[in-house]
Amino acid sequence: MAVEIRSLNISDLEEVMDIEPVAFGSHHWSYQSFVNELNNSIGYYFAAYDSETNELLGYSGFWLVNGEEEAHVTTLAVHPERRRQYIGERLLINDIVEAKKCGARWLTLEVRMSNETAQKLYYKYGFKNLGVRKHYYQDNDEDALVLWTENIESPEFVKLMHERVLYLKGKGTFVGLESAESFPEIKSNGKNSDAAKSSRKSAQQTLSHSTFNSADEC
Ligand SMILES: CC(C)(COP(=O)(O)OP(=O)(O)OC[C@H]1O[C@@H](n2cnc3c(N)ncnc32)[C@H](O)[C@@H]1OP(=O)(O)O)[C@@H](O)C(=O)NCCC(=O)NCCS
Repeated sequence: MAVEIRSLNISDLEEVMDIEPVAFGSHHWSYQSFVNELNNSIGYYFAAYDSETNELLGYSGFWLVNGEEEAHVTTLAVHPERRRQYIGERLLINDIVEAKKCGARWLTLEVRMSNETAQKLYYKYGFKNLGVRKHYYQDNDEDALVLWTENIESPEFVKLMHERVLYLKGKGTFVGLESAESFPEIKSNGKNSDAAKSSRKSAQQTLSHSTFNSADEC
């Protein structure tokens, strides 16, 4: 397996919908929510795929909000048969790198109180607990933890990123970790992230009209 990252495209959505209900249960996004997100001017979405077989392995993305200083991670999921192979972590690294390219200074997200698996991954990246949104998840009334990274350009965060990127490189399955290796010295191209632009273009080509209906949650 050779894991690569690219923009999430409309043509990925059937495979996304194979993963999404397994990953998020009854509270999952619909196909149309993903179409809307690919067309969302503040949304940036990416796919992890096996470049040998083209199989979709997982996906993640964020909204660029708060005067473009904050990347709010809206989703992160890995194919159930591909978990524990650092694909989720690779996607998170990509979110951080892409967020930095967009000019973001920190990342935030909501995670279910009971989702210790995901929390463990986020805590590994220095996310801290900012508070609790009570009854945030409507399916079971569960509370959400609000997590954030603090400044992703801080020496501590940069050191952590370099250590983890080096570790993942050592696994030998990840292609294209170069931009993460040079984090945070990435040329800032603001909203014009090529990957996100091509993702959006592809959505717009197939989208005639849509209502904004995505759940803002991870
Ligand atoms: C959360 C999720 C994306 C993690 O993806 P993954 O590819 O399996 O995770 P990784 O292999 O990158 O794991 C990285 C780290 O996360 C933690 N982790 C991942 N799976 C774990 C598990 N089952 N139990 C405990 N810790 C786990 C560990 O710290 C792990 O590092 P380690 O193996 O060195 O201990 C995946 O489990 C998933 O899709 N879950 C369902 C959807 C979801 O909950 N998304 C997050 C919403 S906020």
